[in-house]
Amino acid sequence: MNKEIKPLHGVWASRWVFILAATGSAVGLGNIWKFPYITGEYGGGAFVLVYLACILVIGIPVMTAEVMLGRRGGLSPIHTMQALAKQAQGRRFWSLIGYMGALAGFLILSFYSVIAGWALYYVFKMPTAFTDATAESVDAVYKGLLADPATLTGMHFIFMVLSMGVVAFGVNRGLERMVRIVMPLLFVLLAVLLGYATTTGHFSEGLAFLFTFEPEKLTAEAVIVAMGHSFFTLSLGLGAIMAYGAYMPKEMMVGGVRKPVSIGSTVLIIALLDTLVALVAGMAIFPIVFANGLEPAAGPGLMFVTLPLAFSQMPMGILFGTLFFVLVVFAAWSSSISLGEPLVAWLVERGWKRVRASILIGVLAFILGMGTVFSFNLYSGEEYQLFGRNFFELVEFLTTNIMLPLGGLLIAIFAGWVMKETHARKELMMKNFKVYLVWRAVLRILAPLAIAVVFLHAFGII
Ligand code: PHE
Repeated sequence: MNKEIKPLHGVWASRWVFILAATGSAVGLGNIWKFPYITGEYGGGAFVLVYLACILVIGIPVMTAEVMLGRRGGLSPIHTMQALAKQAQGRRFWSLIGYMGALAGFLILSFYSVIAGWALYYVFKMPTAFTDATAESVDAVYKGLLADPATLTGMHFIFMVLSMGVVAFGVNRGLERMVRIVMPLLFVLLAVLLGYATTTGHFSEGLAFLFTFEPEKLTAEAVIVAMGHSFFTLSLGLGAIMAYGAYMPKEMMVGGVRKPVSIGSTVLIIALLDTLVALVAGMAIFPIVFANGLEPAAGPGLMFVTLPLAFSQMPMGILFGTLFFVLVVFAAWSSSISLGEPLVAWLVERGWKRVRASILIGVLAFILGMGTVFSFNLYSGEEYQLFGRNFFELVEFLTTNIMLPLGGLLIAIFAGWVMKETHARKELMMKNFKVYLVWRAVLRILAPLAIAVVFLHAFGII
């Protein structure tokens, strides 16, 4: 749309690079840290099934819509939504998608950086603290970290500088090269861990936990958390993927030739890889939980307790373990960049220098993140809780389980009902018309309905 602004942000070198960047955004703490621990908290198989259903029915169609809107708008999500709303003769109301998404991205960035900081700490701790580890000693390291605001703040600071540093240099130069190396390595290491987990003797117990459907465990909260997580893990509902879609030209290099790129099949690959990583992380972690008599519902600490324990018992475990946490940091890094990018791109379009915009967003998110840092120590007491949740849990619940699904609902309605059909169809370039019709029906009816039902149910209305 706005031709002058495009080179300013850059475009992806090829379809493959787009896939890596979007997968880099999707695969992160959500897959390796959060998916296993919430699965543990909400009781396993039934939760996993709802999560998978949400990915299929809501996540994939909404991701397709987000990339489509982004590519059509060609700008940061806020400006893209303003432009597209105008074009559809829609009301300014739809700009809300851009603004709410920007806010959600900012809030998520603030706590994401703190948790990524934990992984960063483990990179340094792995070589020293985890030789001959026991369940108790590993737990003590984790609890010690949480009780220490200074270390948490330091790690949070380093991670925020790393993240906004890349955004400051433009996503193309840093990110493209980074994801090419990091993503395949991450897959290899997960496979190594998975291999180890099969030898603990508790692999089938882990599998049963993940895949046995026990409907009685499915509470209203479990359903909303599963749906929220399907948005979080695919980076949906806040414009991160929309921003990446904006850097995707209509024609891209595919296997060395310039071709029009269909959005649907590209999105499918990203969603598939993301889901695969989450399931593999679960299959690696739960056997270790059962083999060591740990608690599946251990909460946010699950990965930080089980994995060091597993690594410390493996041959060359210290090396692999250190490498693994390096890769968790990288996975988080390639995600956090996509949280900062929409906001920075918006400021740049408003005349800011990219470096300054990145510093501003970084400083603000760092300050807000201190609330999360203190949620684990100074302000962990009940007197600091609201609705039984501390600051971190509140921000996390509000963004993941409310703002992202709401954003997704609005995106689905806008792309399905408000935007001109011909525009959407042209932008998607789907080869198979039947697939297009299915997508459209799901996006218009099934996805919004599913989101609405989960919301109403969670708030006790139905
Ligand atoms: N998808 C990322 C993860 O699973 C988190 C994320 C959410 C990134 C929203 C960008 C936008 O860790």
